[in-house]
Amino acid sequence: MNNTLRHSEIAGVGHYVPERVVTNADLTTLMDTTDEWIQERTGIRERRWFEEGKDTTANMAANAARKALEMAGLTPDDVQMIVFATLSPDYFFPGSGVLLQRELGIKDPIPAFDVRNQCSGFVYALSMADQFVKTGMYDTVLVVGSEIHSSGLDISTRGRGVSVIFGDGAGAVVLRPSTREGHGILSTHLHSQGEHAEELIVKEPGSNRNNRVEYVMANELDMYPYMNGQNVFKHAVVRFPQVIREALDQNGYESKDIDMLIPHQANLRITQYVQQKMGLTDDKIFSNIQRYGNTTAASVPIALSEAVQEGRIKRGDLVCLAAFGSGFTWASALIKW
Ligand code: ACO
Repeated sequence: MNNTLRHSEIAGVGHYVPERVVTNADLTTLMDTTDEWIQERTGIRERRWFEEGKDTTANMAANAARKALEMAGLTPDDVQMIVFATLSPDYFFPGSGVLLQRELGIKDPIPAFDVRNQCSGFVYALSMADQFVKTGMYDTVLVVGSEIHSSGLDISTRGRGVSVIFGDGAGAVVLRPSTREGHGILSTHLHSQGEHAEELIVKEPGSNRNNRVEYVMANELDMYPYMNGQNVFKHAVVRFPQVIREALDQNGYESKDIDMLIPHQANLRITQYVQQKMGLTDDKIFSNIQRYGNTTAASVPIALSEAVQEGRIKRGDLVCLAAFGSGFTWASALIKW
């Protein structure tokens, strides 16, 4: 195969979410909030929370990965590289990529690494994996997004502005070289703007102070996520349409050509704004935040997996993935399915 012409394609996709369903009504017993407030501001009705002793960031990813591999007709031993996107790794170090390798029982010393780009993490990871397949370095790359948020949220009235939004889950895809001319990942587009780093942040445990363990114990509030919600909203509604248009322009398409837009499930109001800005009908944009909340790096592959399962993406469709999140970072991928 001529490497300069080689595209990668998503040969398999799968997802896993923990069994425990936490509804908005459940949250009202833990903090001063209401189902109406949460649904009106975010669209979320329920989310999943992990079970301690059962779910880990790595084993949830493994569950999703096995489904993706099965769809691709492959086994874990076929995987040549792992790219793992998460902001909630099982350990501070090592990263979760190597833990996933172990979970899948992959004995070959294949490369495995983590990507830390929060809500944009999966699209960043996909783009990195795409480069390895395009150049011909690897043929089978596993890309996952997996998150356990619920163990790190301030589940009290103090933290309600953030904690009602996030949920746990995992999604995975298998990238392979495309055998169909003009199909697969057409292009990816990655951006960041570090001047907004503190607008959506978990500060601790940071490394840049003496005696950091003692410091963290005395400042435990900084272990919880902080979000300037209104500023995140303001930037998200600009960056999502921008990065989607960038992908369309590069490939000579217009927004009317999109068959399915899979946006990062940040907030239903953001998704609806993007839908309206791009002029897309309801059948051309996918939302499942109502059932899972915002699962950051896992949200795009979970949504993609459900869209495929539900038959809403067909061969030949033009599919756009887009994300925006902490950093700020934002990204898109345009795929001829
Ligand atoms: N239940 C009830 N009341 C609440 C809750 C809650 N869960 N959370 C906050 N409130 C209260 C606040 O205390 C405040 O009360 P006050 O007026 O008495 O002070 C009031 O509701 C309004 O609070 P705001 O923070 O100003 O609420 P806002 O209207 O900005 O909505 C939200 C917050 C939903 C986060 C909004 O800013 C938003 O949509 N931001 C976009 C960011 C986002 O969705 N991020 C998702 C994760 S990031 C990502 O994926 C890119």
